[in-house]
Amino acid sequence: MIRSPLTLMTAAALALLGPLAVSAQDEEALQRAIDARQAHMQLYAHNLGILGGMARGNIPYDAAMASAAAADLGHLTRVSQQAYWPEGSDIMMEGSNALPAIWENLDDVFAKSGDLVEAVAAMEAVAGDGLEAVQGQMQALGGACVACHRDYQQEN
Ligand code: HEC
Repeated sequence: MIRSPLTLMTAAALALLGPLAVSAQDEEALQRAIDARQAHMQLYAHNLGILGGMARGNIPYDAAMASAAAADLGHLTRVSQQAYWPEGSDIMMEGSNALPAIWENLDDVFAKSGDLVEAVAAMEAVAGDGLEAVQGQMQALGGACVACHRDYQQEN
């Protein structure tokens, strides 16, 4: 087979660019995972804010709205987070506040996720039953978020 100089040059350029192109793709995948989990966290915060606002008296208690916010938290806890946390998508990446400790303590991270699932289920069960019921579950729910952030999220 006769290769033209152009083909040879292209082959050489591709050989050089190959590994770079792959790692750029990896970085894009990590960035997408970071964006997705931060969006997920924002939805947690939005719904928690509705319940917390009612508990503190900043938003009038509304049974349907409280139930909807709690149910949305429930849906969110059932979304698989497996693809959200690829190793390396930590504070070394621009825009992430995830501490590398996550990947050294996965059992603990899963346990803390489980605590949130339980706290959300408890809120979901009573959110429509009145302001006092919401207030009664608020600390456990907010605490489940904070417990994980304390160990695994870098403060801004
Ligand atoms: C099992 C651990 C864990 C739990 C539980 C958890 N978070 Fe997070 N959260 C994190 C980590 C880690 C980050 C940093 C992610 C990043 O920046 O890459 C984060 C980031 C956030 C952010 C910032 C998102 C952004 O746009 O940068 C918000 C808001 C947030 N969490 C809210 C919540 C709320 C509300 C709850 C509870 C309903 C909650 N989180 C439960 C681990 C957790």
